[in-house]
Amino acid sequence: MNQSEIRELLKGVSIFSQMDETVLSSLASLVVTKEYPKESLVFSQDDPGDAMFVIARGRVKVVLYGENGREVVLSVFRVGDFFGEMALLDNLPRSANVVTLEPSTLLVLQRDTFRRYLEQHPAASFSVMAELCRRLRKADEIISNLSLLDVYGRVARLLRELAQSDGEEIEGGGIRIRKRPTQQDIAGMINTSRETVSRALSEFQRRGLLVLEGKTIILRPQFYRESGG
Ligand code: CMP
Repeated sequence: MNQSEIRELLKGVSIFSQMDETVLSSLASLVVTKEYPKESLVFSQDDPGDAMFVIARGRVKVVLYGENGREVVLSVFRVGDFFGEMALLDNLPRSANVVTLEPSTLLVLQRDTFRRYLEQHPAASFSVMAELCRRLRKADEIISNLSLLDVYGRVARLLRELAQSDGEEIEGGGIRIRKRPTQQDIAGMINTSRETVSRALSEFQRRGLLVLEGKTIILRPQFYRESGG
């Protein structure tokens, strides 16, 4: 990539977009481009952080590896996105692994260049903070979904246990739980709120997995296949 292509690309990145041509040109002259094949490791969690990256071509994933290799993908970044800023801002090691999903070209901005740029351009610091807020909001959303899914799984497991101990098969398939506990009781049994239980039951009903009928619940056959837990 030549200097003017790099400058054009930087212009499209949120944290550089307010800068005038002179600043962008001088930044462009300090950037190094690097090519990565598909599925290559850009850096590992816990590495020291010496640079931040802007994607000029391709896509990367930010990923954590749990026990027995289980992957948790925190985010996927595309052309015009940046990553690797955190370790430069808090002076701690890399918070996650970054792996390319496609052959990728990355612009590499050394730590000192990035920090000096932010010091000299407070507006850019605000843009970085705004982007961190956006990512935190996204992460909050994911946490909330995960914990809700977890509770839904617990509701499903409890209903399955009740069906086993207290249920009767009905014509056409399915099992009726005759005396279902109240939503409050279910909440107490799985350590959550009544509102969450109510939401989980409505969601299962909406998906056609169960039917709430007076004081009874009918678990449909698909409940056993699709409810999780
Ligand atoms: P750094 O900690 O230097 O290296 C890993 C990078 O992944 C990190 O900087 C961020 O750029 C990015 N990252 C880490 N966690 C998240 C997240 N939850 N959402 C989006 N990006 C993240």
